[in-house]
Amino acid sequence: MTNKGQIYCLLVVDDEDYICSIVTEALSATEEYQVVSFSDPRKATDYLEKNHVDLVLSDLVMGDFSGVEILDQALRCHPDCIVILMTAYPTVNNAISVLRKGAYDYLVKPFKLETLKSAVRRGFAHQSLARENLHLKEQLALYKLSEAMGEATDLESGLKLAAETARSIFGSGAISILVQEKPDQPATPLLVQGKTTDEEAEAFLRGDHDLCAAALDKMEAESESREIKGRTKRIRSLAAHPLISRGQAIGLLNIVAEDPFMQIKPGQLHLLSIIASKIASAIENNRLYNYLQESYLKAITALANAIEARDGYTRGHTDRVTVLAELIARRLNWDERRLSELKMGCTLHDIGKIGIPDAILNKPGQLTPEEWRCMEAHPQLGGKILEGIDFLTPAMPYILYHHEKYDGSGYPNGLVGTEIPIEGRLLMVVDTYDAIVSDRPYRKGAPPERAIEELELYKGSQFDPVIVDILVAVWNEGRIKELAIYADRSPRAVNV
Ligand SMILES: [Fe+2]
Repeated sequence: MTNKGQIYCLLVVDDEDYICSIVTEALSATEEYQVVSFSDPRKATDYLEKNHVDLVLSDLVMGDFSGVEILDQALRCHPDCIVILMTAYPTVNNAISVLRKGAYDYLVKPFKLETLKSAVRRGFAHQSLARENLHLKEQLALYKLSEAMGEATDLESGLKLAAETARSIFGSGAISILVQEKPDQPATPLLVQGKTTDEEAEAFLRGDHDLCAAALDKMEAESESREIKGRTKRIRSLAAHPLISRGQAIGLLNIVAEDPFMQIKPGQLHLLSIIASKIASAIENNRLYNYLQESYLKAITALANAIEARDGYTRGHTDRVTVLAELIARRLNWDERRLSELKMGCTLHDIGKIGIPDAILNKPGQLTPEEWRCMEAHPQLGGKILEGIDFLTPAMPYILYHHEKYDGSGYPNGLVGTEIPIEGRLLMVVDTYDAIVSDRPYRKGAPPERAIEELELYKGSQFDPVIVDILVAVWNEGRIKELAIYADRSPRAVNV
């Protein structure tokens, strides 16, 4: 069985010229076979070094040269090569020995040409299955990479997966992923895996190599060979593939294969292209995500500024409340994502005050009952303002529930105990602490000891006792006094 249309390269080695001729003539009758023969085994080893070979037919004894050397050389240069040895002096030991070394078959001279052709056909069928198996393994590796990169939560782990997949396909070489921050800037390493023993290869991995600049336009690959002990050896292969996003190069995927017999094959370069496109997508997605995060932070800052511009009394209040709330949330072992949501929620908790008339919001005295009712609408007003903005949804519990009291006497819904989301219970405590210690138009802020007394007094009625205990603990540890936001005692006022 052979793949239709594929040309197979066969090498025949026998120190008897007439054997070379007969075998070559017999096999050349098949159109798919391209046969080269050598009666000098040393020329055959050089040929194996420099040319692609699918199948080798070699005599076992050629003067002082053993066919086992041809076998070794063939498998070193072409690991999936089929090698069939021929001999006129068969022994069981010889046969077992060469088969153990990786020969596919062992023919005893003289043999019928049909026997030879049949052995070659079986050899190619075996090779075809092995290659198909390898191809499927590579596809499986790519499939696993696609799945894993889809699940990767951060860019670094996604890139590591891609690099490991590339190294598994290209053998244990070294790999680097380089990125360009801007089109006119050089690509610099984002990730390097594996080591090389050569300074030039190291420079290539860092992007400091002629191939790298050229590879930003199209894929570049080269193999370097050297004369070692009178023989030409391939000592290293380099391949650099551009990372393309929206039609533009944004970096490079560089591979160094330092195995002297490793040759990067066209099929592997195709796989390299697929991996490079996955890496480019991951980098671009990360850039877009960061851009979105920056835009969202700017939006939040603008909204927070809008609140403070409207309400002179709350100047600095949101910052202080945010810092204090984070101090307590860390004691509650909240993770970084939750802490980031907490900052958003604390920053925006009074956003609804934008809808409260100036005359009430900035009244320099006590509010009337009616004015209080208006003021008490600010949590729900805030909820309405941010309704439908998905990325601000985590701020909602802070906005809606920061005036709910533990015993149900708060507003807007009169929720009781743990009915109130923890975000609201936490903000209620720190909001009150800051309100007590802050100046109002009609009174100076109270000393912090007074705020602690107040929180202790209403612990379990107005306030969640667990949160109060944590705040009191951090106060006793001196952690609140250490905060720069409470070191500044210049006049300020707060309406909560
Ligand atoms: Fe409020």
